[in-house]
Amino acid sequence: MVRKPFFYDITLRDANQALVNPWNKEQKEVVFKQLLKLGVQGVEVGFPIASEMDFESCENLAALAAQLGSNVVISALARAKTTDIQKAWDAVKEAPKPRIHVFLAMSPLSMEHVLQMEPAAVRKQAVEAVAFAKSLVGEKGDVEFSPEHFGDSVENFDFVLESLKQIVEAGATTINLPNTVERYRPMIYVDMVRKVADALPKNITISVHCHNDLGMATAATVESYFAGATQMECALNGLGERSGNTNMFEVAVALHNCGVEMDMNLGEIYETAILTSKWANVPIYAKAPLIGIEAVAHRSGIHQDGASKTKNLKKGAYRPIDYSLIGRQENDVLSFTSQSGKTAVYEILNHNGYPVDLDEAAELQPVLKEISEHEGELSDSRILEVFKEKYCNLNGRVIFHTIDVIPGENRFVFKFHKDGVAHEESISAEGPIEAALLLSRKMGLPVELNSYRQSVVSNADKLWAGRALSEISLSANGKTVMGRGVSSDTLVANMRAVFGGINKLYR
Ligand code: KIV
Ligand code: ZN
Repeated sequence: MVRKPFFYDITLRDANQALVNPWNKEQKEVVFKQLLKLGVQGVEVGFPIASEMDFESCENLAALAAQLGSNVVISALARAKTTDIQKAWDAVKEAPKPRIHVFLAMSPLSMEHVLQMEPAAVRKQAVEAVAFAKSLVGEKGDVEFSPEHFGDSVENFDFVLESLKQIVEAGATTINLPNTVERYRPMIYVDMVRKVADALPKNITISVHCHNDLGMATAATVESYFAGATQMECALNGLGERSGNTNMFEVAVALHNCGVEMDMNLGEIYETAILTSKWANVPIYAKAPLIGIEAVAHRSGIHQDGASKTKNLKKGAYRPIDYSLIGRQENDVLSFTSQSGKTAVYEILNHNGYPVDLDEAAELQPVLKEISEHEGELSDSRILEVFKEKYCNLNGRVIFHTIDVIPGENRFVFKFHKDGVAHEESISAEGPIEAALLLSRKMGLPVELNSYRQSVVSNADKLWAGRALSEISLSANGKTVMGRGVSSDTLVANMRAVFGGINKLYR
């Protein structure tokens, strides 16, 4: 049987409680609508006892879910206290699928030092709280219970497991296992999750809720799915207390890559991430998996080569997914540094509308590498500048200045420098390219024309977009080169291409 993960978002509660400026009712509504677009199955909308603003926000989202006829579970958090539980219920009871989420710490450290209660009293309070919550939700809603700091309950695991059995009997149908502070190996937590999943009745949903203190929350959550957990408690962009909660996007993509079926709209991930960062006012760090600006960047020559050779495949040599899966436009972004190779030059120039071949790219690479050793990463426009200096409008033995067309006479007057000396030559020919080729012979630098192509520089090249690009293949003495010229004047672009080619051949 397919067991689809149940994505339960905790951004509006666990992440919100850690924001510098927690969201108000209107702001929560905006995030909630995005969560519906993303396609999560449950949303913990808040902690109603925390403030009147949070109560009203929860009430508002429960009403909105009803108005939209949404199937999403709308949950509110409550301590194991009747006042909290009643408040939580009052806040979400109008939702089509309301839930009360009760929590109480059961780790040795918390019971002794924070709650300062005996374990038996803690168990009793949890069971009574869940029974009370169940009496409120009736058949309409359900109850989730979390033994806070479950990840710390390595030493008193048997006590927690026995308590959870009693809590299930009292009416909880989802048992959430928080790794409230990540301290140990993911597998220690995952093994505990597996034991709980094996011990509780099969109709009970096992949920995981990991914090990311050591950066392993995603690993623990993903592995827990395979150990029997179905509900994944995660936050957008991994927001939350301290280093955050589990990042929803990483879990969803990892499970997807493992062939797990799910109902999330993965294509909404990237947009959601960008919006969340803006709404929460928490930047996405550059190296963040999947959503960071750098996640698609390749700078070393070997990686660029692999990325380029696999760019049309779903699975790239150096990327975990085809980024269109999460709605991200860029897949492999190649930029140039002193570590980069000819592939980057080839890709960057082609991307910017200059169809060079790999040999030409290889010729330019050492030049760019040397520049990059002083300047660091070179922007596309810097690379284009160097490229144009070297290959377009090239200065060499012959420096082209102007061409005048004499009307009605099929005559062309060229002004140029050759080997430092100024020249003016008049050539009769059918057209300007033929005239330039005749001139090359006259100068003692004969070249043969192989092909000629004219296009317009693409919009990708911000500086030169819309200008004429001439590409002329010329040969001499068994060598073939490509001359290129760019100008807003087609005739000048042609001449620059011819003279550029001549200089390449006779450098
Ligand atoms: O991290 C945690 O333990 C929690 C609980 C309230 C579920 O957020
Ligand atoms: Zn938490």
